Amino acid sequence: MMIKRVFPGLTWKSVAISSSIVGYIGLSYKFAVERHEYIKQKKKLESLRETFGGKFSLTDHRGQPFASDQLLNRWILIYFGFTHCPDICPEELEKITDVINTLDKEEDITPINPLFVTVDPKRDNPEAIAKYLKDFHPRLIGLTGSQEDINKVAQLFRVYSHAGIPDEHNEYIVDHTIITYLMNPDGEFVDYYMRSNTVEQICNSVKTHMKDYVVLRKESFWQWLLAKMC
Ligand code: NI
Repeated sequence: MMIKRVFPGLTWKSVAISSSIVGYIGLSYKFAVERHEYIKQKKKLESLRETFGGKFSLTDHRGQPFASDQLLNRWILIYFGFTHCPDICPEELEKITDVINTLDKEEDITPINPLFVTVDPKRDNPEAIAKYLKDFHPRLIGLTGSQEDINKVAQLFRVYSHAGIPDEHNEYIVDHTIITYLMNPDGEFVDYYMRSNTVEQICNSVKTHMKDYVVLRKESFWQWLLAKMC
């Protein structure tokens, strides 16, 4: 055998053992790096927790009052946009619809409630939003309000929007932030998704956050019990 001639005393067995050791160290290192990245990302998201969200009251697409308290006890995806948006908003709402349909098919997944908040309340009254949302997921709730109320909510989520100059048909574009936020059942910000995130990436992220949430709740339950007992 070639290997014996070059390295006397070396057997295939020892080569196999040493390469699995090297492989194991390599894999451990890879996992350590991934874990480090995961913890870093988690810390970053936790530091952002206080930055997004807060109390608000608007009107839904059925013309009913909608308060931020209604977001509690459910997982929420929030997206800001406007019904006259030519391409980006339909694409993002399509993506949210796909995410929800995908997650709905999985077992043990709490149904997610998607929310669409208009940044163009002048044109987007409840009727306009109701008509628009028919093309997307049936659970989508559309929200509108006075310009002042919308500005307040946009500020809570650090959403930028700016209406362009109307053309001769009084049509105009509203420039706006394209982010979808994930909120947990405590009404806290958990994560955000950009235009570049795929349906698969969002689904995986949501599932990870749901698992983390259960683990955290369990931990806090034991802490609570321990505090009661001591
Ligand atoms: Ni848009």
